[in-house]
Amino acid sequence: MKEKKLYKSRDFIVVLDFGAQYNQLIARRVRECNVYCEILPPETPLSKLREINPSGIILSGGPASVYYPDSPTVNKGLFRLGIPVLGICYGMQLMAKVLGGEVIGAEKREYGRTEMHVHKTGVLFEGLNPQLICWMSHGDIVKSPPPGFDAVASTINTPVSAMSHRSGKFHAVQFHPEVVHTPWGIEIIRNFLYKVCGCEGTWTMGNYIDFIVKDIRRAVKNQKVVCALSGGVDSAATAALVHRAVPKQLSCIFVDHGLLRAGEAEQVVRTFKHNFKMRLLHVDARERFLRKLKGVTDPEEKRRIIGNEFIRVFEEFSEQFGDVKFLAQGTLYPDVIESMTVGTGKSATIKTHHNVGGLPERMRFQLIEPLRFLFKDEVRMLCEKMKMPEEIVWRQPFPGPGLAIRIIGEVTEERLRILKEADAIILEEFRNANLMKEIWQAFAVLPAVRTVGVMGDQRSYDYPIVLRAVTSQDGMTADWAKLPQELLERLSNRIVNEVEGVNRLLYDISSKPPSTIEWE
Ligand code: XMP
Repeated sequence: MKEKKLYKSRDFIVVLDFGAQYNQLIARRVRECNVYCEILPPETPLSKLREINPSGIILSGGPASVYYPDSPTVNKGLFRLGIPVLGICYGMQLMAKVLGGEVIGAEKREYGRTEMHVHKTGVLFEGLNPQLICWMSHGDIVKSPPPGFDAVASTINTPVSAMSHRSGKFHAVQFHPEVVHTPWGIEIIRNFLYKVCGCEGTWTMGNYIDFIVKDIRRAVKNQKVVCALSGGVDSAATAALVHRAVPKQLSCIFVDHGLLRAGEAEQVVRTFKHNFKMRLLHVDARERFLRKLKGVTDPEEKRRIIGNEFIRVFEEFSEQFGDVKFLAQGTLYPDVIESMTVGTGKSATIKTHHNVGGLPERMRFQLIEPLRFLFKDEVRMLCEKMKMPEEIVWRQPFPGPGLAIRIIGEVTEERLRILKEADAIILEEFRNANLMKEIWQAFAVLPAVRTVGVMGDQRSYDYPIVLRAVTSQDGMTADWAKLPQELLERLSNRIVNEVEGVNRLLYDISSKPPSTIEWE
């Protein structure tokens, strides 16, 4: 991967990533304490760490055992840099092993909520109750801490659940302070940041926006930038930032493929063209997309057609802006981390993102990715700070191919109408029930079957609508939402009565896995 430029901040924490599923959460928690934090690979050379000179280093958890021959490790010199270190789970075992302690396989694997007793409060547990609930997930344990360390906490199965060096610079915990199941875990992290590393909590979204804006100006100079608006929060935030930095050099394209949810296309235009006064080219390509989708029923074929057509439209219309050097894209930090661990050595490619993926080779844009250090919820904070409309800030994730993959079978104008109307009722009712922030996604699906019903005295033979509503952290796994019965009842009444062509409402009670969130 291309060398990643680091954001310079007075408080700066580095998380060395040993591959545990919770690692991004560590960075999130640190940032919640108003301290800037980045995740780096464990191979990061000491010279680089010396140069960055972070306020502290966190060694994350990871799936390996320190005794596997190829398990990731750190150079012992890390502990001679004069930088405080906190080890978490695997990070603790690694710290113990590297500094001369003993790590063994536990007799009993410990997983889940456990009660822990703190024997020696010290700086890490300052202000906390000595009996604490914590979340464990490990097979190995530290049998004896390295020289100079004291065991400071224990659980029934893990006699050394936390250890601290007498210098006060090195600490380690076997449990996961970053997960919500360790209710006071954030306090431990805060103690490490403020009391051990001397951080001051100066990182705020306001000053981060100033940094991004200056960074864009520095990169773009007097060149032109193009940005594809999709209606989603990431592209909206990207455009807003570039606009703040170089308003006259930015042109946005909004390709209206007709597959957005009801009212969203109008809202994009209203917000960006009229409120933000951006140069926005609104391409009404609805007919074009529908024509291409005629007779197509295979989901992957739909995706391919929509992706290709998007590129064609983008290409055709972006020429109007003259000689454009930069493409602004809403890549988020989790994607950057992913490419850091799996894409080492590869040059930056344009990621498949809201259909922009796969732009032809000859459209050689340089990328600017102003959100590349941010997590999704931070992007929302940023949008709120930039006073963007609530409906855009809290818009649910939405697939690039849009409603086409929520219409099972052929996409026709009539079927789009049915889906959009039912979907709009769902959104309205979820908003009224104040559920928008709790639910990851809630939407309508239109299956390719029709069923018999009775309306008034008439027999009907119409489509059912499927309501899909899930809770999730990141879309990788999801639970079906346990919705209030009254809401289900209201939705059923409204959709069947108000949407012509629908005579039934079904609720999808499947979780992911084994199902997926979308139906196609
Ligand atoms: P699944 O259906 O795989 O969805 O459980 C996980 C998340 O990804 C979104 N999704 C897509 N996003 N293009 C996208 O940009 C797609 O083709 C696509 N398919 C699914 C989905 O909405 C959910 O948030």
